[in-house]
Order: sequence, then C-alpha cells, then structure tokens
Amino acid sequence: MSYDGIAQTVSDRYARAAATGEQICCPTGYNFDDLRTFIPDEVLKISYGCGTPAGLETVRIGETVLDIGSGGGIDCFEASRRVGPTGRVIGIDMTDTMLDIARRHAPVVAANLGYETSNVEFRKGMAESMPVEDDSADLIISNCVINLAPDKRKVFHEMNRVLRPGGRFTISDIVSDQPVPQYFVHDTEKWGNCLSGALRVSDYVGGMVEAGFLGIHQVKFTQWQVIDGIHFLSITLTGYKLPEAMEHNNGLFATLLGPFSRATDESGQSYRRGIPQPVPARTAHLLSALPYQSLFLVSETPVILEPSDPRWLAILPEQKPCVWKGDYALFTGPFTEVEDDDDHLYQRGIPLEICSKTLKVLETDAYRPHFAMINRATAEISGTQVACSPSGGCC
Ligand SMILES: C[S@@+](CC[C@H](N)C(=O)[O-])C[C@H]1O[C@@H](n2cnc3c(N)ncnc32)[C@H](O)[C@@H]1O
Repeated sequence: MSYDGIAQTVSDRYARAAATGEQICCPTGYNFDDLRTFIPDEVLKISYGCGTPAGLETVRIGETVLDIGSGGGIDCFEASRRVGPTGRVIGIDMTDTMLDIARRHAPVVAANLGYETSNVEFRKGMAESMPVEDDSADLIISNCVINLAPDKRKVFHEMNRVLRPGGRFTISDIVSDQPVPQYFVHDTEKWGNCLSGALRVSDYVGGMVEAGFLGIHQVKFTQWQVIDGIHFLSITLTGYKLPEAMEHNNGLFATLLGPFSRATDESGQSYRRGIPQPVPARTAHLLSALPYQSLFLVSETPVILEPSDPRWLAILPEQKPCVWKGDYALFTGPFTEVEDDDDHLYQRGIPLEICSKTLKVLETDAYRPHFAMINRATAEISGTQVACSPSGGCC
C-alpha cells in the first residue's frame, strides 16, 4: 500500500468511528469519573488511545504541550488543565471529523476549567510534517497514533525538530515482539485496528535514537492481544532531547549501583557496577534524570562502590533447578544492553527466553520497571526441572 493509501484508509476509519461513536482499539486506564467533571461525553466516547498520558504527570504550569494525533481531544484537554491558563496545548490531527469535534468542545472545556479563553489549539496536519515551529514544545505526547503513521522515521525526526532542547516526550503506542508479517501489512482493515503498522520494540526505539533522542525507557506496558503468535503490547515510552550546549565539565563521574552488573548507554558508553566512569556534562545531566537517577551515583570525585556498601544492588538467582515455561524478557531501556548477575545479556527490544529462576529475579522491584514480560507458550507446559551448575548458570 502507498503512503497516501495508508493515510487515507486510516483517516476514513477514524472519521467513521468518530461519526458513529464506535468503540475501537485498546484499554487505556483513564479515570473517566474525574475527566467527566470537565470534558464532555462526546469527547470521552471517542477516546481511541492505548495508554494514559502518563507524561502529563510531569507537566508544569505554563508549559507548551504538543499532542500528535489528538483525535477528539481527550489528552489535549487534560493537558490544558495541567498547564493552567498560562500554558499552551497544540493538537495535530489529519482527520477533519476528529478536528471538528475537538474544536467544538474546546471553549466548553475552557469554561469548565474557569479559563477566560481556551489554551488549546487544534491544527490540521500530518505527523510526518507537523505544522509546528522548530524547538517550540516542552513535552510531546501521543496516544496510539504513530503505529498508524506510514512513515514513522519521518514522525520521529519531526518530533525531534519541534521539541525544544531539554524537552521530553511520553508516547503510548502499540508495538510487537517480532516483525509484523506482510499479510498483516497489506490488510487494509488491520491498519485501522493498530496491527499492520506496529513496529517491534527494537525498531521503534531504534528509530527514536536515530532521530536524536536519548534515555528512552518504558513508563509502563500492558499485554494487548496475541494474533498468529505475534504479541501486541501497549507501551508508554519516555525520552529526552538533551540541551545542545552544556558547560564543559570533565570532572564528573558516574558509578552504576545496580541491579545490572553492566550496562551500555545509547552513546556506547559502558558502565560496570561499582566502578566510577568519567562522563561529560551532557551525560551527567541525563544520568541525573528519571529513571537513571536511582541507578547511578553521579559525583565530582570518583566513588568506588564495594559489594558491602548498602547502595550496591545485586539480585542473585536462587541456587536451585529451574523450569522453562515459555517466558521471554523484553528489555525496554534506558540502556541499549545490560547484563544481570547470572550472565544473561539483554538487548533492548529483543525478547530473550528465560527460565523460572530468572523470571523471579526480573520480577523484583529493581528489575521490573525495565522489562516487558511475554509468554509464548501456547499449550500447557510439562517442563522438567533443569539442574544448574554451582555457579548458577543454567540458562
Ligand atoms: C487511535 S486514534 C487516537 C486519538 C487520540 N490520541 C486518543 O487518544 O483518543 C488515532 C488518531 O490519529 C490520527 N492520525 C493517524 N495517523 C496520523 C498521521 N499520520 N498524521 C496525523 N494524524 C494521524 C487519526 O486521525 C486519529 O484521530
């Protein structure tokens, strides 16, 4: 299918859905009782996202928020509430029916919030060529849209163009655990249903890094559906566009605390737990942001950490046999690859088969935020126990 053909198919699908109020797509997890206090039902009824705009929790009064694929406007209106009357919200969508509904309700929402005029503007445009000025948004949000865009590489580059240096994005989207096959890609109906255009996590995150973003990591994920053995997940990712120029400072050090024994960041820098690593000011800035800040000690003098130090974090597997049950660990960042204390190497976005013993390790509080877990077993498993060597490594 051509670029224009896909865009038209998707636009027709959502125009039809908005006109009829049809329910499509995925679980979101909004608090609708709260939203109903200021957003009209006609907007809430056509909420077609696949996450909640978790990034909005970080929004500060007065900021500018850009919503890519704003639909009926649900996330823009929530952003409007959070940035306050001095802030600004811009929603971009390609579908006229969606824009009409969103624009019609903007003054109603403003009145409900007690604002003199609406601080939300809905602009018609494509995610691949957004009608938005360079370096103008503090935060980009998007809810279940980029999977529908025929040219995701362009979307990621556009995001980088319009985000101000020092800005951030939080995107919820549908992704897959493996490449979506051609019989999905060329199925018109499946485009509108957020299946044909789903990228696997490694390609999605890779596209964002290629566009210039750093520190990309999962905020949350939920299983959505399994079709023909392909796992479709709803994932919310955050990442940063770092400030361009930073005062040059060679005197900073970063010591990895754990739980990983080794980690490599997006610029190729490797860190070993407990060993201080000299880092440039830009990296130190990034490592002081979420979620790195709990993983590193950033200091002006090198700090070596011993295993006896209470800040040293290592989670060892149980020294007992394990069982293979079809579990796969999908590492989601914020590094490109990490190692655990049982010598597993996890590459971002690439599922790794793990046994019951490793699953237990990755389900601990320290590891859980960095992984999406999937189970590919389709039938009951009568797995026999596998003995581990004294050093622990059976898988
Ligand atoms: C699944 S709906 C999500 C709408 C909204 N974000 C929400 O949470 O309700 C997808 C929306 O993105 C828009 N859209 C899809 N692809 C787009 C593109 N390439 N450029 C601009 N808008 C697009 C559609 O018109 C539709 O309104």
